[in-house]
Amino acid sequence: MVTAPAPPEALHGRHLLSMQQFQRRDLENLFTKAEALRLAAEQGALPLRFAGRVLVSAFFDASTRTRLAHETAMLRLGGAVTGFADPEVTRAGGATQESLYDVFRMLSEYGDVIVVRHPETGVAALAAHAAGDRAAVINAGDGTGEHPTQTLTDLYSVWRRFGKIDGLRIGVVNDLRMRCTRSLLRGLRDYDCTVYAVAAPGKGLDSQLREECAQRGPHLEICEDLREVLPQVDAIYSSPTILDEVSSVRPADGVLRGDTPLTASLLEQYGQPDLAVFHPLPRKGEIDSSLDSTPFNGYWEQAHNGVPIRMALLSVMLGGE
Ligand code: CP
Repeated sequence: MVTAPAPPEALHGRHLLSMQQFQRRDLENLFTKAEALRLAAEQGALPLRFAGRVLVSAFFDASTRTRLAHETAMLRLGGAVTGFADPEVTRAGGATQESLYDVFRMLSEYGDVIVVRHPETGVAALAAHAAGDRAAVINAGDGTGEHPTQTLTDLYSVWRRFGKIDGLRIGVVNDLRMRCTRSLLRGLRDYDCTVYAVAAPGKGLDSQLREECAQRGPHLEICEDLREVLPQVDAIYSSPTILDEVSSVRPADGVLRGDTPLTASLLEQYGQPDLAVFHPLPRKGEIDSSLDSTPFNGYWEQAHNGVPIRMALLSVMLGGE
């Protein structure tokens, strides 16, 4: 594990919209805090530091993990939770819908932190503009934009599994247009690691993201076939299949492209024995259930990690330690 980083508190009193807001030391500070909170939870000794504070969920799109992990984190630290998982039951949707600006302006009167998911890119930034300095906004996924708290969960999981991030070789596979992949690559930019990108057909990294990697990192290799990549990597990060259906058509040339289902037999044949597979979930066919009971499975632990890392994030954003 890393040595204690300098105290950054860069997010205190600020909105979290993008992984570009984090320096490496901010991330390692969060990982260290999350470890302490995980231990405190195991000992039944979590500090109730958010008594009297309120988290507002504003979810305009479906979610299981992100909304409930934020809410659980707030509740476990003694805070309260309100909000909606379906805008149709509020004036944020339905026939008498008001503007998004007005919605977030209102929510900033009720809570200390607003967790926002919306199908359109940029709505979290609009929420931050509307909330001003009355409440902190967390981007919980905006269209194909970013999903920074998923990346915090992902990098924390990698850090816990390997005890480091520097030096790792990470394969990113499947639909690389997803917001979780964009945030992940931005989160890795201060680390000395190599990312091998194996996209599903027509679902590769966009040019802006490739340019960002060229400017600051991580080192990026674009690959065609999983069989080139699996023997070389320490970890595989599969993005979910949400924008389109899982392809059932296998290429005639025999190439194993990025949407090839990851099965226990495939990883046993081509992967290193200590290869770890991560996935933000939900999964469709990209992670086969035959992996669930193998040591390759990193995704259940990753899902578990979503609560301690968000407790750490709330602690930094809201203070109260
Ligand atoms: N990983 C993730 O964002 O899951 P949910 O859509 O269930 O929140």
